[in-house]
Amino acid sequence: MLVLGIESSCDETAAAVVADGTRILSNVVASQIKIHERFGGVVPELASREHLRKIAPVVDEACRQAGTTLQDIEAVAVTEGPGLIGSLLVGLVYGKAVALSLGKPLIGVNHLEGHIHAVLLHNTIERLAGKPVPAAGFPSVTLVASGGHTSLFRVDTDFAPGTGSPSFSYKMLGQTRDDAAGEAFDKVAKLLALGYPGGPAIDRLARHGNPSAVKFGRIRMKGNPLDFSFSGLKTAILYRVRGTPLASEAEERRTWRSESPDDVSLEELRAHCSQTTLDLVASFQRAVVTDLIERTLAAATGAGIWTLFVSGGVACNSLLRERFAKAGEEHGFNVFFASPRLSTDNAAMIAAAGYYKLAAGQRDDSSLNAHASFPLGNNPA
Ligand code: KG4
Ligand code: ZN
Repeated sequence: MLVLGIESSCDETAAAVVADGTRILSNVVASQIKIHERFGGVVPELASREHLRKIAPVVDEACRQAGTTLQDIEAVAVTEGPGLIGSLLVGLVYGKAVALSLGKPLIGVNHLEGHIHAVLLHNTIERLAGKPVPAAGFPSVTLVASGGHTSLFRVDTDFAPGTGSPSFSYKMLGQTRDDAAGEAFDKVAKLLALGYPGGPAIDRLARHGNPSAVKFGRIRMKGNPLDFSFSGLKTAILYRVRGTPLASEAEERRTWRSESPDDVSLEELRAHCSQTTLDLVASFQRAVVTDLIERTLAAATGAGIWTLFVSGGVACNSLLRERFAKAGEEHGFNVFFASPRLSTDNAAMIAAAGYYKLAAGQRDDSSLNAHASFPLGNNPA
C-alpha cells in the first residue's frame, strides 16, 4: 500500500511516500531553520505562513521523487497533533483535501507515535537490506526526546482483530514537567549565542570541552520518578553565565554572528569560544544525557523490558548514542535508534505509523481535526 505521509506540526514542512510501511520511496523535508534562526526559537505565526507556502510544492516533490502521482497514492496519513495549532492545520487540511478529493482513505497520526515508528521503520529497512541487526521487538520502552517533547512510553503490540496486521498500544510512563530536552539545548545555546538549533551546535562543541568541569546536581523528581525536568539545569547555567566574563563573551559572539555570513563553520565558532564555555556546554550536555539515560533504564528495569527505542531530534546526539550503546552492552538491553534523518521531524515516520493503522482497518473522515495538545497513551497510574 502506497501511503502519502504529511507532517507540519512544528517548523518542518514534510511529505513522504512509503510503501507497505517499510520502504521509503521519498522523504522530503523543507526546513524553516533559516527563518527562525535569528529569533533563537520557532515563531508560530512565521511557521504557519511558511507551511502554507511550502505544503503544495513539498507534496508534489515527494510524489515526483517517489516516481508516483497523487492519483496512484492509496492512502493519506497526516499528523493531527500535538504541535503548533496553526502549523498542524496546514498539513492536516491539505492532507484531508487530497484524500477527500481523490476518494482515498485518510488517517490521522499522533506525532509521537510517528517518532516511535521511526525506530521500527529504520530497523525494518536495515534488515530488508540484509544488515546483521537484531529485530526491534516489543514490548519496548521508548524515549522520545525532541524540541517539543520528552516522554517515556511502554509500547506493546498485538494483532488487530480479523486483519492479521499488528496493532500498537502505548502507555505513557513519564514526561517532562517543564522544558523538553531539545528545548533546553536550544535555550542554553541561545543564552551563549551558539546558534539555532542548539542541539547540533552543543553536540559538536562539547567534544572540545571537559564534561566533568562543572558538577550539576542530579535532577530529583517528587512524585513520578520517570518524569523529567530540565528548567532547573537551564537556570543553573544562566546563573553561571549572568554577570560573568562568559556573558560578555556570549555578547561578542552574538555580534560576530550577526555580522557573519549565514553559515559559520564549527571551527570558526569554536575559535570564538573560551575553554570555560566549551567546558560548560560539555558539562551541560553530560547532565542532560545522563538524566535521559538513567530514567529510561529505570523505566525499562521497572517494567522488566529489555528493548529500548530512542527517538526524536535529541536522539541525534552523539554522546546520547554512545552512552546508550554502552549502557545496553553493560546491562543487557537491546537499544534501537532511527537514523538521524528519521529521528528529527519527517513525514516517512507518519506514513509508516499511518500504514499500520490503515492495515488494522482504521480510517478517519472529514471530521478529522488538529489538536495542539494530544496525549499518546494513558497517563501513569
Ligand atoms: O524531533 P525534532 O526535529 O522536532 C521536534 O519534534 O521538536 O527535534 C528538534 C530538537 C531541537 O531542539 C534540536 O536542538 C534537537 O532536536 N537536536 C539535538 C541534536 N540534533 C537535534 N539535540 C542534541 N544533540 C543533537 N545532535
Ligand atoms: Zn518531533
